[in-house]
Amino acid sequence: MAVTACIFDAYGTLFDVTAAARTAAGEPGRGDLAAVWERLAADWRAKQLEYSWLRAVTGDYVPFWEVTKDGLDWAMERAGLDDLELRERLLALYWELAAYREAPRCLAELKAAGRATAILSNGSPDMLDGAVASSGIGEWLDAVLSVDAVGVFKPARAVYNMVGARFGTDPGDVLFVSSNGWDIAGAAAYGFHTVWVNRAGLPVDRLPGRPAHMVDDLSTVPSLAATL
Ligand code: LAC
Repeated sequence: MAVTACIFDAYGTLFDVTAAARTAAGEPGRGDLAAVWERLAADWRAKQLEYSWLRAVTGDYVPFWEVTKDGLDWAMERAGLDDLELRERLLALYWELAAYREAPRCLAELKAAGRATAILSNGSPDMLDGAVASSGIGEWLDAVLSVDAVGVFKPARAVYNMVGARFGTDPGDVLFVSSNGWDIAGAAAYGFHTVWVNRAGLPVDRLPGRPAHMVDDLSTVPSLAATL
């Protein structure tokens, strides 16, 4: 078996990051949010990531939960939403994000084929534990690896090194799965096999590493892994 481990990004790949704003927008009395939730979700995600990369460059690491809160504060101010109760609700929902519909079966099939599975995420350990528990996918994961152990965010190479340290694999033994083009670029440059879950049909990022494979969702990842 060439690929012995399948490693997954968390947010946007296994867990639907737009679910927090969408769920809150559907709750009674949230008309202000309902009008802007898609823009808010996009701004929140963009700022969360931007702050993680900038902090990686400047060496000002904080747990991902901190940049998640900072990103939300920026997005809420831009949207004109000055509402502490809503802020707390959105943050609480981030700890119980739903997994994508096809994620449990994908992980179960990989395990049934004898491959190791894990999350490798910028998320803080406690955030990841919350999402794994609430989505019910923990039984098909061998490990949940957080960048918190190395104090820098993806796509720093130190993060991808965590896979070999945990599983004793060489990069060529690993299939890395992410919906984030920048993460796939980093993983491909590192030497992992890569599959980009391009749910939104976006162009390939203009970065040194290119995705080796591209899929619409997670359902074909197990059959792809078997061909590598
Ligand atoms: C992750 C986010 C950044 O690492 O997608 O899970």
